[in-house]
Amino acid sequence: MAKPYLFSLLFVSFYFILQSHLAKSFAPRPIPITVSVTDFGAVGNGRRYDTRAIQSAIDSCPVGGPCQVEFPAPGKYLTATVYLKSGVVLNVEPGARILAGTRQRDYPQDPSRWYAVVAENATEVGIGGGGVVDGQAMKYVVRKDVRKNVMVSWNATGPCLGDECRPRLIGFLGCTNVHVTNISLYEPAYWCLHLVRSNKIRIEDVSIYGDFNIPNNDGIDIEDSNNTFINRCHIDTGDDAICPKSCTGPVFNLTATNSWIRTKSCAIKFGSASVFDFKHFLFDNISIVDSHRGLGFQIRDGGNVSDIVFSNINISTRYYDPLWWGRAEPIYVSTCPRNSTSKEGTISNILFTNITANSENGVFLSGSKRGLLRNLRFVNLNLTYRRVTNDPGDLYDYRPGCHELVKHKTAGIMMEHIEGLEVKNVKMKWSQDHLKEWNNPLEFRPSTVNNISFLGFGSSLASK
Ligand SMILES: *[C@@H]1O[C@H](CO)[C@@H](O)[C@H](O)[C@H]1NC(C)=O
Ligand SMILES: *[C@@H]1O[C@H](CO)[C@@H](O)[C@H](O)[C@H]1NC(C)=O
Ligand SMILES: *[C@@H]1O[C@H](CO)[C@@H](O)[C@H](O)[C@H]1NC(C)=O
Ligand SMILES: *[C@@H]1O[C@H](CO)[C@@H](O)[C@H](O)[C@H]1NC(C)=O
Ligand SMILES: *[C@@H]1O[C@H](CO)[C@@H](O)[C@H](O)[C@H]1NC(C)=O
Ligand SMILES: *[C@@H]1O[C@H](CO)[C@@H](O)[C@H](O)[C@H]1NC(C)=O
Ligand SMILES: *[C@@H]1O[C@H](CO)[C@@H](O)[C@H](O)[C@H]1NC(C)=O
Ligand SMILES: *[C@@H]1O[C@H](CO)[C@@H](O)[C@H](O)[C@H]1NC(C)=O
Ligand SMILES: *[C@@H]1O[C@H](CO)[C@@H](O)[C@H](O)[C@H]1NC(C)=O
Ligand SMILES: *[C@@H]1O[C@H](CO)[C@@H](O)[C@H](O)[C@H]1NC(C)=O
Ligand SMILES: *[C@@H]1O[C@H](CO)[C@@H](O)[C@H](O)[C@H]1NC(C)=O
Ligand SMILES: *[C@@H]1O[C@H](CO)[C@@H](O)[C@H](O)[C@H]1NC(C)=O
Repeated sequence: MAKPYLFSLLFVSFYFILQSHLAKSFAPRPIPITVSVTDFGAVGNGRRYDTRAIQSAIDSCPVGGPCQVEFPAPGKYLTATVYLKSGVVLNVEPGARILAGTRQRDYPQDPSRWYAVVAENATEVGIGGGGVVDGQAMKYVVRKDVRKNVMVSWNATGPCLGDECRPRLIGFLGCTNVHVTNISLYEPAYWCLHLVRSNKIRIEDVSIYGDFNIPNNDGIDIEDSNNTFINRCHIDTGDDAICPKSCTGPVFNLTATNSWIRTKSCAIKFGSASVFDFKHFLFDNISIVDSHRGLGFQIRDGGNVSDIVFSNINISTRYYDPLWWGRAEPIYVSTCPRNSTSKEGTISNILFTNITANSENGVFLSGSKRGLLRNLRFVNLNLTYRRVTNDPGDLYDYRPGCHELVKHKTAGIMMEHIEGLEVKNVKMKWSQDHLKEWNNPLEFRPSTVNNISFLGFGSSLASK
């Protein structure tokens, strides 16, 4: 049973990667028309707004493109929201920088369209060129706090309520054939790169540097979108790094490979918006460093997750201030419903293989009564538990909503509401400094934990 399942999962996944590459190499490539924003009057001095020049350059492109809009170096191009259209790719040269405006009037009325650069219902659109897009997030800080900065919220004067009313950096809404390649994205004030209801997305050679103390500055949010290929990305940010979400539709076929992540939240996070399904994802050859949580599922709204593979991944996690979601878990899988009226989704057919973790807390596998975890497989894992911070441990983190934070002795692997779990060739090592606090390898909570097998499982002190 087990082997054919593993191979079919991997085969389908690698087939998907292959398809993406084939699509890339055989795509027709007409010679694009090139226009420069400076020909339309952009000054690039970082003080005068170049919005009109940039938008005129985009609008001068022939209908449907292909067209490249150049941002020459050196130059700092300050702008209010600019709107891409089909066939247009922004080409920000190395040494050139797009600076996102920081006034509320730089953005349109509708908060769901607050982006510095946005494309809507367009095809063959993108951004690249080796330069920088900068969200100037520090200008939104109301009060610095090493635990978590307090930020501006534009709710008081605008149509947005709550404390998360800040602009995102780049958005593709309802787009097809999106290319974000070879670009650095700095200091987003809110989510950085946002894909919404889009299809066929390639994100390659992208670096994201968000301030480590700023909340909600997610790296890449893939919402209600299909066929996303993320490769060779470097993401160093405060909030979640790669974050699929489902609000109005499912998320199918996401591949992320050959990337590096550091975050004060969760490196790869499903949810927490999870109203529809997530299916057929592969994460391979990823290095997760000094993060608050490694691989995470916060399924809270009834969407079902299935057919996900994590392979060849190194993870180091540590505690940060509990104001940030996460409790240093290398792997966190939960379906606890958000509130008493939320639906419960299941998580099934998940494979974790060839994974090394060094962490301050254990693996958390927590289904719910109607949101069972089914057929989870852990094959070839080395889990080392060690202490590097003095932050208090012993908390189960069910946020957002649900039971919130629960005081409880943690364990190497905590399990509740599971139907089908295979643990094979998994070695737990405990560093000496941990023993005073906890060294309980396995915890079964009083709930369904059925059809489980442990083969080649070990738990012992790490040799010095
Ligand atoms: C997902 O990928 C598979 C395999 O490449 C493909 O057959 C399927 O159509 C894709 N699904 C969507 C929704 O595009
Ligand atoms: C994009 O398409 C959606 C769905 O058809 C529509 O509601 C929306 O108004 C369109 N947006 C623009 C800017 O054309
Ligand atoms: C990024 O673009 C710059 C400028 O065109 C180029 O020199 C560099 O090789 C590109 N890097 C990658 C990884 O494509
Ligand atoms: C703006 O958001 C803050 C923080 O959530 C809240 O305290 C305040 O009441 C909100 N103001 C308005 C006008 O909604
Ligand atoms: C993704 O694929 C699913 C299944 O085919 C479909 O229902 C959904 O509309 C697709 N979403 C987009 C944005 O294409
Ligand atoms: C894994 O990804 C790194 C970049 O993060 C790359 O240098 C390395 O070659 C990749 N390894 C494999 C086996 O592809
Ligand atoms: C994980 O660490 C091992 C040992 O240091 C190294 O050989 C491997 O390339 C690393 N893999 C990733 C994905 O970083
Ligand atoms: C409970 O969560 C659901 C989504 O799961 C949301 O639609 C609903 O508004 C929430 N109810 C309350 C009372 O917060
Ligand atoms: C999740 O699966 C359950 C059981 O099959 C089903 O009732 C529910 O509708 C599914 N959720 C979604 C969002 O499709
Ligand atoms: C896991 O690692 C082993 C040994 O390095 C390798 O042979 C195998 O192909 C890897 N499995 C996957 C799914 O990458
Ligand atoms: C786990 O450790 C063993 C012994 O050091 C090593 O042979 C194996 O390759 C490691 N596996 C992973 C996935 O890191
Ligand atoms: C038990 O779990 C394994 C995966 O660990 C799964 O392949 C198998 O179908 C399950 N058996 C039953 C009877 O549910």
